[in-house]
Amino acid sequence: MPEIIEPFRIKAVEPIRSTTTDERCQILADAHYNPFLIHADDVLIDLLTDSGTSAMSAAQWAAVMVGDESYAGSRSFYRFQEKVQEIFGFNFVIPTHQGRAAEKLLATLLGGPGHKIPNNNHFDTTRANIEYSGAEAIDLVCSEAKDLGSDYPFKGNIDIPRLREFLAANRGDVPFGMVTITNNAGGGQPVSMANLREISATYREFGVPFIIDSCRFAENAWFIKQREPGYGHKSPKEIAQEIFSLADGATMSLKKDGFGNIGGFLALNEEKLAEQCRNLLILTEGFPTYGGMAGRDMEALAVGLEETLQEDYLRYRVRTVEYVVERLNKLGVQTVRPAGGHAVYVDARSFYPQLPQSAFPAQVLVCELYRHGGIRGVEIGSAMFGRSVDGVEIPADKELVRLAMPRRVYTQAHMNYMIEVFEVLLKEREQVSGLKILKQAPILRHFTAWFEPLN
Ligand code: F0G
Repeated sequence: MPEIIEPFRIKAVEPIRSTTTDERCQILADAHYNPFLIHADDVLIDLLTDSGTSAMSAAQWAAVMVGDESYAGSRSFYRFQEKVQEIFGFNFVIPTHQGRAAEKLLATLLGGPGHKIPNNNHFDTTRANIEYSGAEAIDLVCSEAKDLGSDYPFKGNIDIPRLREFLAANRGDVPFGMVTITNNAGGGQPVSMANLREISATYREFGVPFIIDSCRFAENAWFIKQREPGYGHKSPKEIAQEIFSLADGATMSLKKDGFGNIGGFLALNEEKLAEQCRNLLILTEGFPTYGGMAGRDMEALAVGLEETLQEDYLRYRVRTVEYVVERLNKLGVQTVRPAGGHAVYVDARSFYPQLPQSAFPAQVLVCELYRHGGIRGVEIGSAMFGRSVDGVEIPADKELVRLAMPRRVYTQAHMNYMIEVFEVLLKEREQVSGLKILKQAPILRHFTAWFEPLN
């Protein structure tokens, strides 16, 4: 049996451009050592994100052609709503242009000073939307998640005793509670059904509405099927339906497990809150039967939501990430283990032990991957989650490089090329030096910061 079989054949191809190492050295310097500032045409393999970068299927492109672009009451919205309700089961579906717009609605209406919102790990936009409203974003992921090498199967779980303690100490100050499936900021790790049930029961006990950040729900459902006793015979869709039956609502970026290049929604059971959200939606996104999307987007997403739950696809998807993790670990490159759903997370501190956190080792590794291989990953370390307080850097607790896999885009040969690039980086690891920040924005600084080599 082959290692991986891509469960599709390729009908339309897009060229990718090779550059020389000399050219890439110049491109990196021009981009101030921040790959977010590199032109995508100068990237050979783009693993910056799995968001909005998926290849749509022939069926999705066909659906695009029947999109109804009516301002109000579009047929495409009703088709979209029906598919979302079939899987997610919530009463009200509020379409948004992407996931963060759904977060913004919730944070604007329910956030604000004095409020605290728990999660396993908030992702950057969720945290930023909550903090921008004046509320606090609290991470309560289980202790197993802190050990990068531990093979605990559900490292996205919330620490239930800590959640209970937190809710008891903050009665009246928690307008809603969250969990993120899979846990992107914590290595793309899944949350078990048992933990989801306990999270739901704990939030209910304290009267706190339970909202699931569900960007990668299909991957999480697949992990439950593979790893949790009692779920092996259930379909990913049945598992997803069970997950969402435990919650009061969901935020969703359809740019991930929706197979969309754009799209999202907020889904809720509570009518009054849904009405308030819709009123705000009209102000910021658009009329409630399109939000921030075109009719054709909603058509393609309704098809994508069905395809994302297909077993052949999920098997290939998760196996690809696992394959890269196995090969890298064999070379001696440490990663978050076990393999997550959408990305490989490389531990940059152990890759460059000579670099202190203040020299941004994960940003350095991101730059070296580009310099040597034209590969673009993203830093999930002190550039993203550290802060500058009165000019002093407070580091993040991990220095990771995320190599996120666009869905149905790259083949196993691309993965093998990347592993070869890592072999080169390993040989040269002692020669690299660190980076410092030259310029940064007050929030979400990693997107636009300028860096400079230390020497
Ligand atoms: N929640 C999680 C867990 C995410 O990973 C993201 C986006 C969002 C919310 C926001 O969704 O981009 O549609 O507004 N993550 C992307 C990433 C950007 O690269 O991981 P969005």
